[in-house]
Amino acid sequence: MHDKFPTIYSTIRQIQENMFTRRPRRNRKSAVIRDLVQETHVTPNDLIYPLFVMEGTNQQVEIKSMPGIYRFTIDRLLDEIAECIELGVQTFAPFPVVLDGLKDKYATESYNEHSLYLRTLREIKRQFAEVCLVSDVAMDPYSSAGHDGIVENGKILNDETLEILARMAVAQAEAGADIIAPSDMMDGRVGYIRHELDEAGFQDVSIMAYTAKYASAFYGPFRDALDSAPRFGDKKTYQMNPANIREAMIEAQLDFQEGADFMMVKPALPYLDVIRSLHDNFPTPIVAYNVSGEYAMVKAAAERGWIDGEKAMYESLLSIKRAGASIIITYFAKEFAQLYQNM
Ligand code: PBG
Repeated sequence: MHDKFPTIYSTIRQIQENMFTRRPRRNRKSAVIRDLVQETHVTPNDLIYPLFVMEGTNQQVEIKSMPGIYRFTIDRLLDEIAECIELGVQTFAPFPVVLDGLKDKYATESYNEHSLYLRTLREIKRQFAEVCLVSDVAMDPYSSAGHDGIVENGKILNDETLEILARMAVAQAEAGADIIAPSDMMDGRVGYIRHELDEAGFQDVSIMAYTAKYASAFYGPFRDALDSAPRFGDKKTYQMNPANIREAMIEAQLDFQEGADFMMVKPALPYLDVIRSLHDNFPTPIVAYNVSGEYAMVKAAAERGWIDGEKAMYESLLSIKRAGASIIITYFAKEFAQLYQNM
């Protein structure tokens, strides 16, 4: 049979032997073609910028382990936000530096309407009505124990903590938060907060759940920034074991059922598989928190000239989106937006 069509068969054999019919490099041969076939894009619209606010006026203090990131007094914070809006970043996630004297066992300062945090939210909304504000719900910045829940005899109480989280959430909604982001990892908090927000008339306030939040070493610089490290023990009885992904699906199922509008994975880069899995299994937007330690690593290596910081930043953000996150909370937001203007 082969003898009957010698030319065709020899051509096919040649093609098979040659293996060069498909040359992937053709789609990389020029910058224009590379842009044409690019599958994933990052724009300032995809980014949420975390901000640290402190008491005082007209001051900003750089966080040692996070070059380029500051604790701002409210007035300076507003200037920073104005600059970001100009660059196309429009969603912000503020975190407060709470004075030691205001911290207590039940985090009562967290729902005090005169607190630094709630004043900050109101002031941002007064000046920039159009921005989207994501507020953090967790006890740790206000807790004398530095934990995300009430501590009793060395144990974190789950259900009792929900009450405080819900009061905090309602107070933040009253102050103008568009999205409430519980970062505490207590069981049942999304449903409880949803119920209490609705009861208070805040049906339109969204919930961005920290769904798969791991007990991670990458939060170190953030805890320095807020002085919020746990005073004893660790957070392993509520934050997840970095070894687990199937367990993240339980957290996601619960948060989805309880009404989460967004579901988050945190940290981002060491957990790209978790991001992918949540993306493939749940229809909410998936958010990734590119945390303080991930930022610090890039900055530290770049300062030493060991890597190109801008390229590493862009590659990190692209990778997080490629894995399935449509939104990234990142300390790179402003710097990326500046770079993006010249891209
Ligand atoms: C607190 C909270 C933490 C972060 C965000 N919210 C720290 C923690 O859980 O100890 C970390 C963010 C970062 O590292 O950038 N509930």
